[in-house]
Amino acid sequence: MSTDTTAPAQEIRKGLAGVVVDYTAVSKVNPETNSLLYRGYPVQELAANCTFEEVAYLLWHGELPDEQQLAEFETRERSLRRLDERVKRVIDELPLTAHPMDVVRTAVSVIGASDPDAADASPASNLDKSIRLFAQLPSIVAYDQRRRRGQHLVEPRDDLGYSANFLFMTFDELPSEVVVEAFDVSMTLYAEHSFNASTFTARVITSTMSDLYSAVVGGIGALKGALHGGANEAVMHIFDEIGTADKAEAWLEQALSEKRKIMGFGHRVYKNGDSRVPTMKASLDILVEHFDRPDLLALYTALDDAMQSRKAIQPNLDYPSGPAYHLIGYDTEMFTPLFVAARVTGWTAHIMEQAASNALIRPLSAYNGVEERHIG
Ligand code: ACO
Repeated sequence: MSTDTTAPAQEIRKGLAGVVVDYTAVSKVNPETNSLLYRGYPVQELAANCTFEEVAYLLWHGELPDEQQLAEFETRERSLRRLDERVKRVIDELPLTAHPMDVVRTAVSVIGASDPDAADASPASNLDKSIRLFAQLPSIVAYDQRRRRGQHLVEPRDDLGYSANFLFMTFDELPSEVVVEAFDVSMTLYAEHSFNASTFTARVITSTMSDLYSAVVGGIGALKGALHGGANEAVMHIFDEIGTADKAEAWLEQALSEKRKIMGFGHRVYKNGDSRVPTMKASLDILVEHFDRPDLLALYTALDDAMQSRKAIQPNLDYPSGPAYHLIGYDTEMFTPLFVAARVTGWTAHIMEQAASNALIRPLSAYNGVEERHIG
């Protein structure tokens, strides 16, 4: 093995841990104060006071909409919700063995390939594309959930807000207001988180002057992994594995002895707790009460308690959101696509920011392969 002297080993930060790559005005994560700001606003305040549509507008425009701006934005978003026949046909062609993240990734690719303006990276065109994806991702996710259950497609309703319509298209009925609110809160909390792996992927793709759809498709690919968005599904699989609260401690002991990562715990940036968890946990509590599932809350608490006394590693947003989506009625494999529907707002805000002040993202590597050699 050799070491390239042009890049000393001590400069290598595995996983880019702690490396500041660029500026962003979209959001600020401060692990010291355990805070997360979208365009200056604490995410908890946005979740409590704004709809997800307002948050999407804020991420893209930098300011919350006034009444008229919101009305115009809502009218536009509602008019774009219907899926093209081509997108439906392609989804229908995909086998049910395909993971729903693969379906979402493919559907976004089809939307991009069908857009004659796909290559137009002007700010106005990129904003148009962002609103279209924001409007259509719920239709894709809802349709995929339904076809997996052998149910027919439910067309969107333009008299409903984003979250109410999303749930209506999924379940063919309007859930109660508390459920819609809890879901809306989860969308706001998942919307944006600075240079996380999927957002960084989207920015890398944008930096090559590729198109917005390609960058979003790349983001979806990065989000699918269990160390990132895939963790919300994995939490529910863990709950299924454990069964009941009384078995949580023994299960954890066994899992840690096998050196397993406990999904829904730990974070690259937050080491003293994820700032989004208390807000999502409050929504989970409301859902537990609404659906009368104290057993699920007991399991949630038992595993968290066991994890704290054994490893002192705090839960991340995926820990409360997984069981929340389960209570709302989604199949476990649909959880990460729900994350996509939310995060597309943050991804596209970053894509537009990257495009506006671009530099090709191209880091260096330190070679540690065999020394130079020659044939013969
Ligand atoms: N379960 C068990 N041990 C853990 C966990 C966990 N969830 N998280 C961290 N650790 C341990 C590691 O084993 C390591 O221990 P060691 O020093 O004895 O080897 C130490 O804590 C540091 O962990 P790293 O993995 O090096 O920390 P990193 O910052 O790279 O990891 C990550 C962050 C990937 C999120 C990690 O905590 C993890 O794998 N968590 C589970 C997956 C998950 O929930 N991902 C969701 C992220 S948040 C989101 O996408 C909304």
